[in-house]
Amino acid sequence: MSDMSEQSVEIASSQLGTKDFWDQRYELELKNFKQHGDEGEVWFGTSSETRIVKYLIDSKTGKDAKILDLGCGNGSVLRKLRSKGFQSLKGVDYCQKAVDLSAAASKAEREEEEDEELVDIEFEQLDITTPPADFFSSKFDVILDKGTWDAMSLSDEREARLKAYLGFLDNGLSAGGRFVIFSCNFTFDEMCSQFGGGGGSTSLEIVCEVPASHSFSFGGKQGVTSTGAVFRKKTL
Ligand SMILES: C[S@@+](CC[C@H](N)C(=O)[O-])C[C@H]1O[C@@H](n2cnc3c(N)ncnc32)[C@H](O)[C@@H]1O
Repeated sequence: MSDMSEQSVEIASSQLGTKDFWDQRYELELKNFKQHGDEGEVWFGTSSETRIVKYLIDSKTGKDAKILDLGCGNGSVLRKLRSKGFQSLKGVDYCQKAVDLSAAASKAEREEEEDEELVDIEFEQLDITTPPADFFSSKFDVILDKGTWDAMSLSDEREARLKAYLGFLDNGLSAGGRFVIFSCNFTFDEMCSQFGGGGGSTSLEIVCEVPASHSFSFGGKQGVTSTGAVFRKKTL
């Protein structure tokens, strides 16, 4: 294997890397939800959610595992995990309107399903680059990211954000806890370079790539819509 810590990842900044963009977007999505019951966009499509859920079930993740979704958006993946019986679910997002949308959609689903078994999902407004120390009073067995690092990395402050993000994972994961990330911007090797540290500069090690459920071909080449990678916090 090549030393992936040597690779650098070049990516242009964009408005998707700004909080203003997401605040405006979730203001509209929350309004749509209240008026029409429309839950808004599922980033990378439902197939990526299905891959996350399938990976967690196939890897024998306990239904009581403490799971945190970073940049939860409308909370869709957490609702899917709840429907499969996962019991300890939390989502954070730095947009208050995303947190409001997630909470409203989660409550509406419970009421619609009339299923007493469906647990409450906890949602909290949090910028993951500046978490308060007491956020880490309890650790998580699984931390998820679908599209959040993609958005955060589209910034001139990318390096500082990556450092803060790695610090969050280090503080937030239990020993042996897993970080599951889905990206449309980065290849598997680029994710290993950023999160796996190659040369030992992070507390994470690579576990596996999450297989694609289907692929497409273009110009004679095979591609997948998103790349999934799993890392584990090293035990000392
Ligand atoms: C591409 S969307 C993905 C949303 C959701 N994970 C999904 O798959 O539908 C990126 C999300 O990251 C959130 N986000 C971006 N930077 C963040 C930060 N520093 N802290 C917390 N959330 C952030 C945005 O508000 C937005 O909800």
